[in-house]
Amino acid sequence: MNHTTITEDELLSAHDGRAPRVLSGMQPSADSLHLGNYLGALVNWVKAQEDYDSFYFIPDMHAITVPHDPADLAERTRRTVAQYIAGGIDIEKSTLFVQSHVPEHAQLAWIMMCLTGFGEASRMTQFKDKSAKLGSDSVGVGLFTYPMLMAADILLYNPDAVPVGDDQKQHVELARDLAQRFNHRFGETFIVPKGLIRKDGARIYDLQDPTSKMSKSASSPNGLINILDEPKVIAKRIKSAVTDAGTEVSYDRQEKPGVSNLLEILSTVSDTSVETLVKEFEGKMYGHLKVAVADAVVERLEPIRKRTFELLEDPAELDRLLARGAEKARAVAAPVLADVYKKVGFLAPAGQAL
Ligand code: TRP
Repeated sequence: MNHTTITEDELLSAHDGRAPRVLSGMQPSADSLHLGNYLGALVNWVKAQEDYDSFYFIPDMHAITVPHDPADLAERTRRTVAQYIAGGIDIEKSTLFVQSHVPEHAQLAWIMMCLTGFGEASRMTQFKDKSAKLGSDSVGVGLFTYPMLMAADILLYNPDAVPVGDDQKQHVELARDLAQRFNHRFGETFIVPKGLIRKDGARIYDLQDPTSKMSKSASSPNGLINILDEPKVIAKRIKSAVTDAGTEVSYDRQEKPGVSNLLEILSTVSDTSVETLVKEFEGKMYGHLKVAVADAVVERLEPIRKRTFELLEDPAELDRLLARGAEKARAVAAPVLADVYKKVGFLAPAGQAL
């Protein structure tokens, strides 16, 4: 067993009686989740809420670490919530909330910043990549301290595992280091969290550039499937997907990245193994595969799209759900922060317990 990550079997067997806790979030930085967010993350979160004590949140504070438009952020935060719920997050089973509604995140982030070395923070690869792209004039200090806010997000809830993609592993690693450092300096406080590795985590690639992960920052929108797109837009993009040399429908990530990506998508949305699909498409052409993928994806996404827009028609109700989520989250986060404050030597305000 790798000590910084945990598999699901290990996670479930490590606990007798108590449900293990997981926590994750996705930034509200686009008008719609894309198929990679949906199949690679959200679908797994929905499954996880059955077995784990699950905390899911919208890191809106992280979304302002790069230049942003305030009206867009507000709209995207609601849309993200609506898509989580439409996609299957059940607020009775999971705790769903917005990061900025729980002030303990910013408060613990300060402590985390004071524990992090300048050099250590400078080595974060996502910071290096993003700041190189933005140029030093537009890079705020918040982009630099982003990983410490993320450590606070995690440690406030003492989760056993944090399901994240590869691009976030280094940040989870930092959260572990900071948890250990705090425990060592100030006494046992935090559970040292692990990254969660899923056997069945789907990896979805760009339709136009099938060796790159599907990402909202792709050079062309044509490689993206947004879950809120009209069915005909989705079908068109799938039918225009780049395929590979040859004619045979077979799975080979190296030699046939385009066809393999389509097979992976179909396999995930139809819950059928790639092997079975390859047999089914024996003697058929790429075009047949594309039609099948387009139909299956549209069928899967259409109810989610409709439900999302229905939910968005009543923003006051969404806000009420979020207020309940924030209350549940604070009930966990506030005592953890109070314990941290006491341990670092902050005085309790007169008449108030920490
Ligand atoms: N940084 C993550 C991303 O961009 C989002 C995030 C913020 C997160 N805080 C988190 C994910 C805590 C997991 C746990 O995808």
